Amino acid sequence: MKAIRGRLLTYRPAPVHEEDGLILVSGGKITAVGPASELIPDLPSDIQIEDHSGKLILPGFIDLHIHLPQTRVIASYGAQLMEWLERYTFAEEARYADPAVAEDGAQFFLDELFRNGTTTAVVYGSVHPQSVEALFTESAKRGAAMIAGKVMMDRGAPDALRDTARSSYDHSKALIKRWHGRDRQRYAVTPRFAITSTPAQLEAAGTLLAEHPGVYLQTHLSENQAEIDLARSLFPGAEDYAGIYESFGLLGSRSLLGHCLHLSPREQERLAETRSVAVLCPTSNLFLGSGLADRGALNANGIRTGLGTDVGAGTSYSMLRTAAEAYKVEQLRGRSLPAHDAFRWITRGNAEALGLGDEIGSIEVGRYADLVVLDSSATPAMAHRMERCESLEEELFVLLTLGDDRAVAATYVQGVGRNSHGSL
Ligand code: GUN
Ligand code: FE
Repeated sequence: MKAIRGRLLTYRPAPVHEEDGLILVSGGKITAVGPASELIPDLPSDIQIEDHSGKLILPGFIDLHIHLPQTRVIASYGAQLMEWLERYTFAEEARYADPAVAEDGAQFFLDELFRNGTTTAVVYGSVHPQSVEALFTESAKRGAAMIAGKVMMDRGAPDALRDTARSSYDHSKALIKRWHGRDRQRYAVTPRFAITSTPAQLEAAGTLLAEHPGVYLQTHLSENQAEIDLARSLFPGAEDYAGIYESFGLLGSRSLLGHCLHLSPREQERLAETRSVAVLCPTSNLFLGSGLADRGALNANGIRTGLGTDVGAGTSYSMLRTAAEAYKVEQLRGRSLPAHDAFRWITRGNAEALGLGDEIGSIEVGRYADLVVLDSSATPAMAHRMERCESLEEELFVLLTLGDDRAVAATYVQGVGRNSHGSL
């Protein structure tokens, strides 16, 4: 058993804040939480207390959309989606055929997520099953909960990156058998998007979902106008882009659809009806010039929404930076995003989008002790700004607007902590 002390903040869904709080952890899970003054007198005298007094402790952040083989694609200049894929992305993903590249990549990737306070992510591998094998192996070693899948892509990509409907089915199925539900790993069937899958492959994806209740589906939907036009021309029989996926049984409450920028009213109705999740990726949408998500309309139309970085089209691994860009997109739409809503979204909200709200995303007894410790005065500019801070909500907005990996003092996965110098 160990204890972690600090300023606790979680959402139920209203914010619950304990200025001097204590979390007790045993077997990787939270066994008690409350005011330090109430819990400390009953603790065994030899218990280890990791003291983060003065710093905020929140549930670890959850990233609903990120690409493992794009850690060396991030920050590639001057292209919109289709050209960006062809000019930069496919060449780098091809390197993941080499298991050594995949292993190195997975280690860097998880180090970087943890450095940014992200403890669970939904991850696209490359087309090579070994990319997902490497990620799950490393994640299991670290005790983390990751959701991932090998990309299925049997057309519209270079030879070296194409599988077939059959091989993508077989390789995905083998990975599901080996990893889905093992430790904390879960599988997401991952047809990249309609443009890079034949009808036969999308049908195979639908079969995988039907055969394995409980696995997720992730793909891209309605990100860029040229993409939308091409998808429609490749599936002339479909009513619209969302209709392509629906016709193969790919929409549902475990379906995570990246971007969703240019949906028609009919498409929005289908997403709402099937309880599919629209995963917004603001840093990516701004960087590739894809468009501005209409979160207000999506929510008003009853669509569940999540938030993801979409590295490497996204420009930061930090969910703080990502939520800050969501705030700016809302501003451009004449709305706003209150700080509590943003922090709720990247913790409990994204956990509920995954249907995992009873495991992760909040600081409550029985949840995994996946936590992030935040320092609101991490940089000179933040410390200087904090001198005028008068409320928790104001502090959170400073963290959101100025914070990044430098504001992450420590990250805990199942109660095991690490900071920038290594394990605590
Ligand atoms: N659509 C299909 N593949 C990708 C990808 O790798 N990144 C983004 N942003 N969109 C995509
Ligand atoms: Fe993406």
